Amino acid sequence: MGDVRALVTGAAGFIGSTLCERLLADGWSVRGVDAFTDYYPPEAKRRNVAGLAGEARFELVEADLTVAAVEPLLAGCDVVFHLAAQPGVRASWRQGFAEYDERNIRATQRLLEAARDRPVQRVVFASSSSVYGNPQRVPTPETDVARPFSPYGVTKLAGEHLCRAYADNFGVPVVALRYFTVYGPRQRPDMAIHRLVECARRGTPFALFGDGSQIRDFTFVDDVVAANVAAATAALQPGEVLNVAGGSSTALVDLVAMVGEAVGREVPLDWQPAQPGDVQRTGGAVELAGRLMGWAPRVSLRDGVARQVAWHQAHLPS
Ligand SMILES: NC(=O)c1ccc[n+]([C@@H]2O[C@H](COP(=O)([O-])OP(=O)(O)OC[C@H]3O[C@@H](n4cnc5c(N)ncnc54)[C@H](O)[C@@H]3O)[C@@H](O)[C@H]2O)c1
Repeated sequence: MGDVRALVTGAAGFIGSTLCERLLADGWSVRGVDAFTDYYPPEAKRRNVAGLAGEARFELVEADLTVAAVEPLLAGCDVVFHLAAQPGVRASWRQGFAEYDERNIRATQRLLEAARDRPVQRVVFASSSSVYGNPQRVPTPETDVARPFSPYGVTKLAGEHLCRAYADNFGVPVVALRYFTVYGPRQRPDMAIHRLVECARRGTPFALFGDGSQIRDFTFVDDVVAANVAAATAALQPGEVLNVAGGSSTALVDLVAMVGEAVGREVPLDWQPAQPGDVQRTGGAVELAGRLMGWAPRVSLRDGVARQVAWHQAHLPS
């Protein structure tokens, strides 16, 4: 993919920064955009992109997609990877919703509006398994009813619907990827595996919400990045929606044990009531992503956890 230029929004985030590295390694030119929001410490995001600063084919633009002029950001870009968002389920209730509304719905609409009249080859939108809520069945195929269980999920589904409206009306070549719980090096500090690894390393209690029986389909970040690259180039219908899931459905209690083993120290638990918005189970069917873009997850949960633990040990203070 030499001299293809990508716009990556949310470039300083967990997944966005990993995607930028992969694109640069593959020979793309990358314009990364990020607002360095304070959902988690912006210093962590600065560290995520610190290694990219010296790359000649990488340009970082600090801009907020809810207010910045978007056309200049898109200028010269062939492919757009739209990952900028306010993530996380629990903060999306009450007054927190305003940021989800602005950063997930409004920012997506502004980006699509700018892409509408431009000759972009593809816009890849980062959607989420949270659009399914508590699914009717697992593994959930893309055709099952999307009924989010949290305001966050509602905003991601709204983003998807906007993508489809711009695809159907104007032919904007958008594809939405529904990621299932992503983990790996640089994982956001509010996410379970990150917190588990840190609690195991420090011997501090891990706040476990609910009874630990909740099941998640975990997806290693490199697999999510590979799905984005595949979605950029595969022959897909505008408006297509695809699951991106690791296939390793695991109960939280088993994950706790696995992380303890990987760190070599048991995780102390602090049992807490279940949180509103947390679903009981996720699991994605990935046959469609396999058939339409030749993608399948490659990294097992055990290997992926070991790689994340190694990253914590090398990059975070002990
Ligand atoms: N991590 C997961 O398990 C997961 C699962 C499903 C979907 N997703 C989606 O994947 C994407 C990336 O998630 P992540 O875990 O890397 O999160 P992250 O918070 O690490 O990255 C998101 C980045 O977007 C930036 N951002 C937010 N609002 C912005 C705005 N208005 N303008 C410019 N930049 C803005 C933030 O500063 C941040 O660096 C998000 O769209 C998220 O909803 C993540």
